[in-house]
Amino acid sequence: MYNKLEKIKELKKERDAVILSHNYQMPEIQDVADVVGDSFELSKKAAEVKASTIVFCGVHFMAECAHILAPDKTVLLPDKTAGCPMADMADVDDLIEKKKEHPNAKVVAYVNTSAKVKAEVDICCTSSNAKEVVDSLDTEEILFLPDKNLAWYISNKTDKKIIPWQGYCITHARVSQEEVDACRSNFPDAPIICHPECSPEIQNKVDHIMGTGAMVRFAKETDAKRIIVGTEMGLIHRLQKEAPDKEFLLLSQSFVCSNMKKTTPDNLLYVLENMENKITLEPEIRERAKDSLVKMLEVRGEAIGSR
Ligand code: 13P
Ligand code: SF4
Repeated sequence: MYNKLEKIKELKKERDAVILSHNYQMPEIQDVADVVGDSFELSKKAAEVKASTIVFCGVHFMAECAHILAPDKTVLLPDKTAGCPMADMADVDDLIEKKKEHPNAKVVAYVNTSAKVKAEVDICCTSSNAKEVVDSLDTEEILFLPDKNLAWYISNKTDKKIIPWQGYCITHARVSQEEVDACRSNFPDAPIICHPECSPEIQNKVDHIMGTGAMVRFAKETDAKRIIVGTEMGLIHRLQKEAPDKEFLLLSQSFVCSNMKKTTPDNLLYVLENMENKITLEPEIRERAKDSLVKMLEVRGEAIGSR
């Protein structure tokens, strides 16, 4: 393994590549990456990258976002079959029909959507900025897709009427209320945090709800010595690195996203060696999808960097 990771580091320089890793990637991948972050941080980073190649260690829609925001870079995805079942729950033709049913609504797409869907919406959001994005819009009705659980979370934080799509994350849907109850009685002093992709029943039982980037900040800032973490298991490695004096326990052992685990040192090395698995899009779709991503970055005053 050591040699493989060393080889990846060498090739990264030779290929003028930067490796971006989502917080859910396996520990070896996070450790070899240049940047580890949540969906928002990685989109922002992709837009600013100076290197000519981005290797995106995550799932397909994330690599697509990088390509959309940095179209003159080569974007490689180590395993092209690494998709997101939630993103697949929003079909562009269904969206076009739904928009006709709600002509007065603005449409917000969670970044966990295909580029074709992004091309049809007003603006994108991630779990870290969903409320800000929704509140920035000048309509009372918001059609929000694809995550019904994130939609529910925002509907409790905004005065706007949220019309939810019925998609969800199959990984975050696995945690049971009994698992939350068991953690609560076994570790009464430990705060329980969960991702807004968890169901309303779970969100109602935990102490704090936040995306993975906010979980990292919470872990560093809290006085608690032990934290129960309700999101994909890959984040535990990041948390342990960022807050080594604290103990992190997974809320459920079933929090494993098999798509996030498709990136391995082998396929990462392979794409760097062979410059394969390039992500490309039709320019027209790419440009329209870019508008909705750029609008999202602008909500927080983030300028688009060099492309
Ligand atoms: P964040 O890292 O933005 O919270 O996203 C979670 C997720 O499920 C990405 O697929
Ligand atoms: Fe998709 Fe859920 Fe996996 Fe994230 S954790 S990539 S939302 S299936």
